Amino acid sequence: MAKSWAKSSWRSKPRVQMPTYADGAAVVSVQKDLEKQPPLVFAGEVRRLKRALGDVANGKAFLLQGGDCAESFAEFDADSIRDTFRVLLQMAVILTFSAKSPVVKVGRIAGQFAKPRSSDSEVHDEKELPSYRGDIINDIGFSDAERAHDPRRMLQAYSQSAATLNLLRAFSQGGYADIHRVHSWTLGFTECEKAEKYRDLAERITDALDFMDAAGVNANRIHTLQTVDFYTSHEALLLEYEESLCRIDSTSGLHVAGSGHFIWIGDRTRQPDGAHVEFCRGVQNPIGIKCGPSLTADDLRILLEKLNPQNEPGRITLICRFGAGKVAGHLPNLIRAVKSEGSKVVWSCDPMHGNTIKSATGYKTRPFARVLAEVKEFFGVHEGEGTYPGGVHFEMTGKDVTECTGGVSAVSDSTLEDRYHTACDPRLNASQSLELAFLVAEEIASRVASQKAENGLIRSVAD
Ligand code: PEP
Ligand code: CO
Repeated sequence: MAKSWAKSSWRSKPRVQMPTYADGAAVVSVQKDLEKQPPLVFAGEVRRLKRALGDVANGKAFLLQGGDCAESFAEFDADSIRDTFRVLLQMAVILTFSAKSPVVKVGRIAGQFAKPRSSDSEVHDEKELPSYRGDIINDIGFSDAERAHDPRRMLQAYSQSAATLNLLRAFSQGGYADIHRVHSWTLGFTECEKAEKYRDLAERITDALDFMDAAGVNANRIHTLQTVDFYTSHEALLLEYEESLCRIDSTSGLHVAGSGHFIWIGDRTRQPDGAHVEFCRGVQNPIGIKCGPSLTADDLRILLEKLNPQNEPGRITLICRFGAGKVAGHLPNLIRAVKSEGSKVVWSCDPMHGNTIKSATGYKTRPFARVLAEVKEFFGVHEGEGTYPGGVHFEMTGKDVTECTGGVSAVSDSTLEDRYHTACDPRLNASQSLELAFLVAEEIASRVASQKAENGLIRSVAD
């Protein structure tokens, strides 16, 4: 490593968006407890994900990353985890089948508890209190006690993450994710045009599986068809928590963040000399960097050099979140900077965080049409620059919420209040998530088709 690094070296760097704990001794005691706990993820899994993301960086697979904006202690139950997992599985099936691309599946789950905020405090009825910063830091309730930053919340976040991961491992390896069950993933699903379209696709997959069974093709691949690789991710915002779960990989002797497979640095905490970049540069995990309109090409170059000095494919995912109508103004510049450095990165599109508005009825929402528009712009810019649009990153839930307006279920400003449950940002509901997956699949498929046509043309010119 260029400069010496320790899991605590972030402490000497400027930090933003971090809690102010009143009781330093309580923080030390919680950290000691966490250090004794097993890591949530293992180094071998982290390496496997990095290899899979290396395939994405090389244009051979697609990254699907999604889940809650913020996990919460109150909304924690097995059904919510299952619902999120199955919508992600359905989206992955749509992409694999329609776009014929392997899909790397990563949840925003089992650790996504800490939130950056635009303001340190919030005022209600003339009372000012610290902002809610996610359940790992304080409580969403509006009282002095609830908004106090409490380090013991880290222990609850750890145990909820461990229980969540336990269930996810069971779902992905224990039969639920068996592709032969592709039909049953729609059970309990609210009817919509996209659910119907999904059922048609499931029918075609079942036919293909039956054919392969009859032809004896599946026998050797049964494990692949019955299980999925599913990974976890979150924003590495609360560095006391990250530091306590950091471990040394006994195979390589290198440090690994044990809190999740993939961690990312938020748009508000990516200062090249800041604490968050310092922590992330020393761990081996795949790292995401959120790229918003304020990221300059120069800062991006510095970040790539610091976080990926060996230019390892799969190490860095650039998660672009500019907002609909703004992609063409920002992305080409960053793509050219990355090209000029010869850096291997995954380009992913987060069409959520640049498209948040306040509805006429006072809710924080995201018009679904703008979400789709940003994805299209992202694909369009990559087409123009000759680079590979490798993934999408989005906030969703498997529940039938009404938080983003539009989509086939036609949520409007006036129906937002019906089932608005998010603890933080508005999420796509299950049918909006499927609609997004169909759109992405079409974009990839048309790209593959135009490349094939181009290759055919090149070949016929050469012939
Ligand atoms: C998020 O992903 O929830 C988030 C806060 O994103 P960003 O850092 O891009 O604003
Ligand atoms: Co968010």
